[in-house]
Amino acid sequence: MMYRCNAVATDKSGGMKQWSTLEAKDFLQSISSQYISTLTDILQVKPEDNILDIGCGPGTMAVPLARIAKSVTAIDTSVGMLETLKEEAEKNGLRNINCVNKFWRDVEVGIDITDTYDVVIASNSINLLGAKEAGADRKQLDWDLSDAIAKINTLKGKNCATMPLLEHKINDVYELLGRQYSGFPDHIIVHNVLFQMGLKVGVDYFVIQDNKVHQNRLLSERVSWILNLNNTQRNHLEDTIQRRVKVSDRRLQVWSLIQWIA
Ligand SMILES: C[S@@+](CC[C@H](N)C(=O)[O-])C[C@H]1O[C@@H](n2cnc3c(N)ncnc32)[C@H](O)[C@@H]1O
Repeated sequence: MMYRCNAVATDKSGGMKQWSTLEAKDFLQSISSQYISTLTDILQVKPEDNILDIGCGPGTMAVPLARIAKSVTAIDTSVGMLETLKEEAEKNGLRNINCVNKFWRDVEVGIDITDTYDVVIASNSINLLGAKEAGADRKQLDWDLSDAIAKINTLKGKNCATMPLLEHKINDVYELLGRQYSGFPDHIIVHNVLFQMGLKVGVDYFVIQDNKVHQNRLLSERVSWILNLNNTQRNHLEDTIQRRVKVSDRRLQVWSLIQWIA
């Protein structure tokens, strides 16, 4: 099954939009500490384990897991995210994280990474791993979720991916803007891709409380970033959201947990 997605943030020339270091830091700030502790408990990482974290972002899981594991290999296409991860590793005195700055589908197994890990995780990233920049100027986005998942399955190890179930009311905001939101592939799609590959896959859910107050500002910032809105448009959007979209102060986050062994 080939799943194509057109809801990813792109830059003006059509490539994948890059996170600045500031945006990466903001992203890390917005993550619930309960998310990290819950996933850490689920993964049961041991001191002798080597971990692969694909789409690692600012080190959300890579840094806490590196405190427990022997090594973490962290892959991300964003320089800003990896810079933030490295700063966090430095702050924590961690020397066992190895970063690879590539699109997952461009990573060369046997060269950039080895083929054996104890745990392979894609935390809040698996639906993006199908993307890579292609074409002569590498500015067209090519999507192939099956290819990305098949590549994960060439590795030896226990695989785990998480995906959020309740988006930050993002579809309501698109509606306000008169735009259609065709979201990312959800966990059912990821499950079905794995199932079609003949793999036994377990899907579970966990619910956590946001520890940050999710304000309307954060929501309008995210959407403005994705849609490249200018300041005037962004202020207008923030105003409209303020009046129209209810984002409660204390929200629940529902996450799906997809686990399989290839
Ligand atoms: C939503 S963030 C999640 C970050 C982190 N894993 C977490 O749990 O907070 C998704 C990350 O995946 C990265 N990413 C997106 N597409 C990618 C791809 N095709 N290959 C590698 N990394 C990718 C982005 O740059 C971003 O840092």
